[in-house]
Amino acid sequence: MTKSRFSLLLLFICLSVILMISCSKTSEDKLITTNGQTCDTAGMKYGSNVIPVLQANCYSCHSNGNTDGSGGIRLDTYADLKKYADNGFLAGNISHASGFIGMPYGLPKMDDCNINTIIDWINRGAQND
Ligand code: HEC
Repeated sequence: MTKSRFSLLLLFICLSVILMISCSKTSEDKLITTNGQTCDTAGMKYGSNVIPVLQANCYSCHSNGNTDGSGGIRLDTYADLKKYADNGFLAGNISHASGFIGMPYGLPKMDDCNINTIIDWINRGAQND
């Protein structure tokens, strides 16, 4: 191998490494892609992020006046939801983890955006924020 070919090869390796580093940076972003949909599930809050997910997927069985068949379990107040966030059920139920009853009951799992919204809120301490 001539000297100029060697330096060309060296340049190519350097460029590849730079490309790899810049590409791997995207994994630091808090973006999750589900069904071609992009969502940000970092810093999720009870009021603005968690409630809308529960409203759309859970309140039909777990809110005031709508607890028939759910053993009277309500999730429409912060105190009620916090109980299940702290004892691990909420995370287990929504991710259909083994040993937990999958929620929404009798239905497929919610999409990853919705699940991760709630999981992130739990991981941040399930605050009333
Ligand atoms: C179609 C009605 C229905 C929907 C919708 C529903 N649930 Fe439930 N949920 C139930 C029933 C029924 C139970 C009681 C299950 C049992 O104990 O056999 C339950 C129990 C629970 C419990 C108590 C823990 C347990 O395993 O018993 C939690 C927490 C819960 N649901 C969370 C949710 C969340 C979060 C959603 C929305 C993502 C949701 N549920 C949607 C019917 C529903």
